[in-house]
Amino acid sequence: MGRTQLVNPHGGRLVDRTGKPKEATPPGRAITLTAWQQCDLEMIATGAMSPLEGFMGEADYHSVCDHMTLQNGTLWPAPITCAVDDATAAKIGVGDRVALNDDAGRLLGYMTVTEKYKQDKRKQAVKVFLTEDPAHPGVQIVMESGSTCLAGKIDVVTARHDPMFVAHRLTPAQTRAEFQRRGWKTIVAFQTRNPIHRAHEYITKCAQEIVDGLLIHPLMGATKEGDIPAEVRMKCYEVLIANYYNPKTTMLSIMPNAMRYAGPREAVLHAILRQNYGCSHLIVGRDHAGVGNYYGTYDAQKIFDTLPPGALELQTMNFEHTAWSKKAGGMVSPKTFPVIEGDQISLSGTKVREMLARGERPPAEFTRPEIADILIESMRKQ
Ligand code: ADX
Repeated sequence: MGRTQLVNPHGGRLVDRTGKPKEATPPGRAITLTAWQQCDLEMIATGAMSPLEGFMGEADYHSVCDHMTLQNGTLWPAPITCAVDDATAAKIGVGDRVALNDDAGRLLGYMTVTEKYKQDKRKQAVKVFLTEDPAHPGVQIVMESGSTCLAGKIDVVTARHDPMFVAHRLTPAQTRAEFQRRGWKTIVAFQTRNPIHRAHEYITKCAQEIVDGLLIHPLMGATKEGDIPAEVRMKCYEVLIANYYNPKTTMLSIMPNAMRYAGPREAVLHAILRQNYGCSHLIVGRDHAGVGNYYGTYDAQKIFDTLPPGALELQTMNFEHTAWSKKAGGMVSPKTFPVIEGDQISLSGTKVREMLARGERPPAEFTRPEIADILIESMRKQ
C-alpha cells in the first residue's frame, strides 16, 4: 500500500471554476438549475468532477452513454448535462452568456453556451441505469428533465448560498491539503448515503487497517424521498466517529454530489470523484449505489474489471455481504466465515425502520445504540 504522493486528479489536473467571473454587464438570460444540476455545478466548479469544466456537449454525451468515456477516451460513466425545457431552450442560442440561478432565483454562476442538442433519454436510461423503468429514481429524474441540453464551460460565483455543514464540506483541493497536513498518502474513501450501521463500520475498519487514513465521505447532494435526511445522518456520523473511531486515522467530510442510484456506472463515478478528492482507494461493498432489484449484488465491483488498464488511478476495495455472526461472535462475510442457516443478524431496511418508528433499538450487533437513539429521535419529530 506504499505511495510517495497522493493520487493524481482524473485527467491529470484539478479543475477550478470558482471565483472567476467578473461580469461587467450581467447577461440578459437566466436558467434555473434543478437540484441535480446545482449539485453538478458545485462538483464541477470545485474540481470534484475533473476533468469536466462545464456541462457536457453532444459528442461527450453520446460517447459517455455508449462507451463510458469522454470523446477523448477519458473514463467517464454518466452524462453531466444541463437539460432545460423547450420554452427556456427557445430563448437561448449558441454563443449566449447565461446566468445560472438556484431555485430561489439567486445567482450561482454563468455559462457560455457552446452547444444546444436534444438528449436521448431512452438511450441514457438503458446505457447508464440499465433500465427504462420510470419507477427507478434516477431514470425518473432523467425522464422528467427537459429535452434540450445546453453545453458550455461554467464560471461559478457561489456554488451554494446556504451550504450545509461548511466545516465538513471540503473541496478536493482542501481535502488534499488536509491529507498532506496529516501526512497521509494512502486514503480509503467510504461512500455512503445511510447512517453507518455495524456492517458499514466493519468494512471501513477492515480497509482502515491497511491504509494511512479513512475518509468517511457521505454523499450529501440530492437524494430520493425516503432516504434519511442529511442533518440526521450527519449527527450519526459525528457521534459514531466520536465514540467508535480513531480520530487520528479517520476524517469526515461530505460530498455534495447528487445520488443517481445507477449501481455499477455510479460506482465508477464515485471512484473518479474520490480520486479527485485525493483518495487512493474506494470501498465497494454489496449493491453499491443500487436501489430496488435493478443490479446484481456485486455488479458494482465487477464493472471495474472491465476497465482498460490505466483508466483510473484509484483502486477499489471490494467487500462481500457482511453481518454479525452469533457463532463467531463478530462481524463476518462469506469470505471469512461459513454461512450457517440462522446464524447472522440481518435485518431488512423496512424492518429496521419499523423498529425505530416504534421507538425500539435494533440489536447492538446491527446498529450502535447511540445511532439507534438518534434515528428514533428523528422519527419522533417527523
Ligand atoms: S450506497 O448507495 O452509498 O452504496 P450505503 O450507504 O448503504 O449505500 O452503502 C455504503 C457502502 O457500504 C457501499 O459500498 C455498499 O456496497 C457497502 N455496504 C452496505 N451494506 C453492506 C453490507 N452489509 N456488507 C457489505 N457492504 C455493504
